[in-house]
Amino acid sequence: MTSRRNFLKTCSTAAGGLLLGPTGALSAMTHAMPAQANTLNASTLPPFVDPLPIPPVAKSSGLRPLPSSPKTNVPYYRLAAQAIDVKIHRDLKPARMWGFGGSAPGPTLEMRSGEEILVEWANELPQQHFLPIDYRFHGAEGTPQVRIVTHLHGGRVPPESDGYPEDWYVPSKSLTYRYPIQQEAAMLWYHDHAMGINRLNIYAGLFGAAIVRDKAEDALNLPAGKYEVPLMIFDRLLTPEGQLYYPISDKPRAPWVPELFGDAILVNGKLFPYLEVEPRKYRFRVLNASNARFYHLSFANGLEFHQIGTDQGLLPAPLKLKKVSLAPAERVDLIVDFGDSRGEQIVLKDTSYNVMQFRVSAGKVNDSSSLPSQLVSVPKLAESEAVKTRLLTLDEYTSFAGETVLLLLNASYWHDAITEKPTQNSTEIWSFINPTDDTHPIHLHAVRFQILDRQHYEPTAYQLKKEFRFLGPRQPPEPYETGWKDTAGAHSKMVTRIIVPFNSYPGKYVWHCHILEHEDNEMMRPYEIVTG
Ligand code: C2O
Ligand code: CU
Ligand code: CU
Repeated sequence: MTSRRNFLKTCSTAAGGLLLGPTGALSAMTHAMPAQANTLNASTLPPFVDPLPIPPVAKSSGLRPLPSSPKTNVPYYRLAAQAIDVKIHRDLKPARMWGFGGSAPGPTLEMRSGEEILVEWANELPQQHFLPIDYRFHGAEGTPQVRIVTHLHGGRVPPESDGYPEDWYVPSKSLTYRYPIQQEAAMLWYHDHAMGINRLNIYAGLFGAAIVRDKAEDALNLPAGKYEVPLMIFDRLLTPEGQLYYPISDKPRAPWVPELFGDAILVNGKLFPYLEVEPRKYRFRVLNASNARFYHLSFANGLEFHQIGTDQGLLPAPLKLKKVSLAPAERVDLIVDFGDSRGEQIVLKDTSYNVMQFRVSAGKVNDSSSLPSQLVSVPKLAESEAVKTRLLTLDEYTSFAGETVLLLLNASYWHDAITEKPTQNSTEIWSFINPTDDTHPIHLHAVRFQILDRQHYEPTAYQLKKEFRFLGPRQPPEPYETGWKDTAGAHSKMVTRIIVPFNSYPGKYVWHCHILEHEDNEMMRPYEIVTG
């Protein structure tokens, strides 16, 4: 047997207890890059020489009957995953990537609340993977190399259409999913979710944006059309020849690395692009599509902007900001007014990298869009609405050498029995107890939630006696994390509490850390919405 658990058992016996307990004060996580081949230093390439690509809007290929009610015809889309060559920078040869519908990121799915669609996700990939599979992982042991299954992140979707990690399929197969879209306007995204290789498939390019619209949003007269632009930000490592490089550890049979950080920052698939804009308001739908990198975005000239929405939709009112942070999978909806910046070139930057450049034209323009002072109503959920509180630990295990070897949720493996079984339409509080040195962005499928608070605590007392010693007051979420969310950063040495109405379909879903390297190495668990 080569199951993950057996592998670990064997190792710990052989080494006389190789694994230390969940990381507390005992071991620090190492962020050092493993031994790796030469990579291209992306900062040697001239920035801002390529225009920002805007992924095409997905086109429906007609109407099809719903399998469940054959008299109802709904728009049908077919998106095929294929190997493609993508020109990511003027001075580089095209890079081999995998993309849906001929591009990476793939075409944007435009959806309207209340209007169901069908999407056939086809696997037209080659038989061999081009990125380093770790065959020890659950799902990657003795299975075909190339497997995909697509998840609509943030979608309230029936379980059979949610992209359950074990529902993967091989080249020349496809699955047709139904998306009822009974949810409010928001930027969702679709991405691969195949068990054990998800980090590699998304790194290869298997993701894209999905925008839900509704009447409440229409009524706001926000910037639209070419003045509404998706910005999907993701980092990659490149070989000197400009091909995607995914690093491996120095152990050939255990190639997994705990996190991927690249120095080539791509937006919509171009390295350090520029966008020509008019001196007026724009709406930017920003997604962090990176495997592990967090972004702290601001304009180099200090330009202020407004945030109007989070992962799951609009805020009650715009928030004026100079800086916004995004963990992997998080989204923000921003209004940027270039009206006072005529003729300027403004860089959008992260703490350590330039991300892209905006070139504002000089002439006067007429901007008829609005930034209303009130947006939509977002009822704040009260703690008293919750019928249950679950205490859930985020666990990281290290070897004696200090290397991270495994991450778990509540000390449980993927294949352990399901322990989280919320009742449909009930509300629960989930408390993420994080003794590790990392923020883990925790995502729940099928639902939206609100962040209640975060509080510093003393990990050792909790580990030894299951006793909470809090080291400070409960902190409310950051302004940019208020409103409805589907992914929340559970910060290091803190207890992060979210409140979740399980208003979705009954059935099996998953919850996991959205650092993709963690997710693939057991930081993902099934959960089940049960009927009351
Ligand atoms: Cu972005 Cu399990 O999802
Ligand atoms: Cu999801
Ligand atoms: Cu994590």
